[in-house]
Parts: sequence; C-alpha cells; structure tokens
Amino acid sequence: MIITLFIGLHLFNHFMSIYGIHTHIEVMAKLRLVYRNPFAECILLAVVMIQIITGVRLYLMYRSKSRFSFHRLHLLSGLYLAVFLVIHVTAILVGRIILHLDTNVYFGAAGINYFPFNLFFIPYYGLAIMSFFGHLSAIHFKRCNKSVLGITPKIQSYVLITLGAMITASIFYGLTDGLHGITIPQEYKILVGQ
Ligand code: HEM
Repeated sequence: MIITLFIGLHLFNHFMSIYGIHTHIEVMAKLRLVYRNPFAECILLAVVMIQIITGVRLYLMYRSKSRFSFHRLHLLSGLYLAVFLVIHVTAILVGRIILHLDTNVYFGAAGINYFPFNLFFIPYYGLAIMSFFGHLSAIHFKRCNKSVLGITPKIQSYVLITLGAMITASIFYGLTDGLHGITIPQEYKILVGQ
C-alpha cells in the first residue's frame, strides 16, 4: 500500500509535466515535503527492498504454475518492477550521493531526450509504468469478483491497462515537451556523456 501510494503520487508528478517542466518541478517540490525526509525515505527504501525480495520469491514459487493471462501478467510485471526498482533507486542514489545532482525532472528526463540514450530509456520507463498498471490490473482481476454497472472484473482490468497506456503516453509527451525535446541544463549532460 505504501509503495503503491508513493508510485501513484510519483506518476501524478510526471503526468503534470504535460503542463510544462516548471509545473513538474513545482509539484515535485510540494511532494518532496512528504517523502524527502529521513523518516519517510527510510520507510520507502525498506518497503521497496521488501517488495523486491518477496516479489522475486513469489515469482520463483509460482512461475511454473502460470496458466491464464492475468496470472502471467501478474508475475512478469512484478518481475520487471523488481529489476526496474533496483536499477532506478540505485541510479537516483548515485545521482544524489556521488554526482551531487538534484534528482529532479532533468535527471529523469535526460536519457529520454537524447539519441541514442532514448532507445534504452523510453522502453525502460515505458515498461515500468505499464508494469505498474499491469500489476494492479492483475491483482484487481484476481481479487475482485463484482461487476460495476454491468462491467465485469475482466473488462475493469482491461480499463486499468488502457488507462496505464494513456498515462504512459502523456508522461512521455510531457517529459519531451510535446515531443519537441526539453533543454537539459549543463550539469545534467554528464548523464548523456556530454
Ligand atoms: C518516466 C518514468 C519515471 C521517471 C522519469 C522517474 C524519475 C525519478 C526521479 C527523477 C526520482 C527522484 C525524485 C526526487 O529526487 O525527489 C525518482 C524517484 C523514485 N522513483 Fe521514479 N521515475 C519514473 C518512474 C518510476 C516508476 C514506474 C517507479 C516504480 C515502479 C518509480 C519509482 C521510484 C522510487 C521508489 C523513487 C524513490 C527513490 C528515493 O527517493 O530514494 N519511478 N524517479
């Protein structure tokens, strides 16, 4: 629940980049008041680590039993999120502690806006956001057995995945300034070898 809450707020923050990079920075400044303090960060890092360890264990236990598609989606999205979180959180900590950078939108968006780095970073981030929604939709499908307004749990889960795809596209639109590309300040260009 803690990790879902953080990721929800984090993706909302990235989504706000559709109103401009400065809006993204303003929203992050407000959200940091909540999560950027030693207490909240220790809890966040601990739940990320627990999620990774328990997730990989669950994947190894259930991988051979995967039969239907939402179960497979649950396992594969969880596995990708585990790998992504290790790399992503390590990168953020290296950016802060070793490179002494403010890990704001420019840190996240540098790789997306420079060729050939974007060939890696677009699928890397895109799959992460889609895995988050895929994971939620698989859990929803397994746990929920009620139709709402005649919409079956299966359709509700597909709606969640579609919402995820729309949010992913919007985030890339925002983080590239409407596909024009954002200007990355000089201190962040070290991330793209310049
Ligand atoms: C386009 C996609 C994404 C970009 C550009 C991005 C970028 C960033 C940036 C810049 C930070 C540092 C925030 C700060 O210093 O206040 C961060 C932190 C974090 N991100 Fe992402 N992120 C993305 C997607 C995700 C996703 C999908 C997840 C989870 C599945 C995630 C999990 C985290 C976590 C857990 C942290 C906290 C690390 C810490 O403060 O120790 N991110 N991300």
